[in-house]
Amino acid sequence: MACRRSSSLQAMRIRLAFRQSYRKLFPGMRSALSVILKIILPRLVKEIAHHVEVPEESIIVGNGSDEIIDMLFRMKARPGDNVVCYEHCFSMYRMCAKLSGVEYREVERGDNFELPLDRLAEAADERTAMVFVTSPDNPTGQAASVEDLSVLAGVLPEDCLLVVDEAYIDFVWPPESYTPVQAYDKFENLVVLRTFSKAYGLAGLRVGYGILPPQLAKYMKNARIPFTVNLLAEDAAVAALNDDTFYNQTLELVMRGREYMLEELPKIGCKVWPSQANFVMFEPPKPAQAVFKALLKKGIIVRPLASFGLGKCIRVNMGTDAENRKFIETLGEVLGG
Ligand SMILES: Cc1ncc(COP(=O)(O)O)c(C=O)c1O
Repeated sequence: MACRRSSSLQAMRIRLAFRQSYRKLFPGMRSALSVILKIILPRLVKEIAHHVEVPEESIIVGNGSDEIIDMLFRMKARPGDNVVCYEHCFSMYRMCAKLSGVEYREVERGDNFELPLDRLAEAADERTAMVFVTSPDNPTGQAASVEDLSVLAGVLPEDCLLVVDEAYIDFVWPPESYTPVQAYDKFENLVVLRTFSKAYGLAGLRVGYGILPPQLAKYMKNARIPFTVNLLAEDAAVAALNDDTFYNQTLELVMRGREYMLEELPKIGCKVWPSQANFVMFEPPKPAQAVFKALLKKGIIVRPLASFGLGKCIRVNMGTDAENRKFIETLGEVLGG
């Protein structure tokens, strides 16, 4: 008897190294997860590497791409360093700079909010740890070309990383004109960030990834907290990468909606800017805050952009075709009234 038990113990593999509860799932949880647990999925890094055609050693997965931005600051920026961004951009870079005790340098954009890549290069010096470009940009929707990003990567000071935040890259057309990922191995200083929060709709699950030079990815893996992406998020992201139908339908909907908005907004007196993202920025002919409040009263939520330093502008996401039509109709009433 004793002998039989010890041989079955040997065969079982007893895992006592990871500090989790020795009990597996309680019954309610097991039934909730049964659908997911039935699908034995390969891990996420492998899938991403396959999807973006980049070696696994260059991929870092994070709890949203926000976590990777945070890790980049922890790993690369020291007090006395600076980071360079342009005005009216995603707030996370400024916040991380502040938390890291790093100077935040902000360069001006042109009148039409073009991405000022030349000015970013001019503002960088030997203490610049990172230069950030969001492409397509939040909240303007503008995107930088692969050629311009390649030139920028080539002229930055040695040791300065060019971080291209591609949270909205799925919505650009044609993709090969905008993402430098295909040429990532030509640059030793290029970092590309992506997320499952936008095109894949998984914002609440928190999954993002970075494509980094392999040596840098290795440092980051060594320096980071080991487990930040949970199993459900990982499995959902793998499933998302394999669902071409959902993805393509999303892109079609967004691109159709974007064309519609860009055509209709000027007809009701709004100024619009070209967009490569899943939203459009516009300036209404009445004060933006009042327009925002009037839309809110009628049940439509848009984003006024005062917090980005763009007090006259509003950002509107593309919804379904019916939602887009309702938005334009309601905005027309608000502006006409
Ligand atoms: C430009 C940009 N980068 C990164 C993020 C964060 O994405 P995640 O949900 O993956 O942290 C956002 C989210 O709004 C964003 O607009």
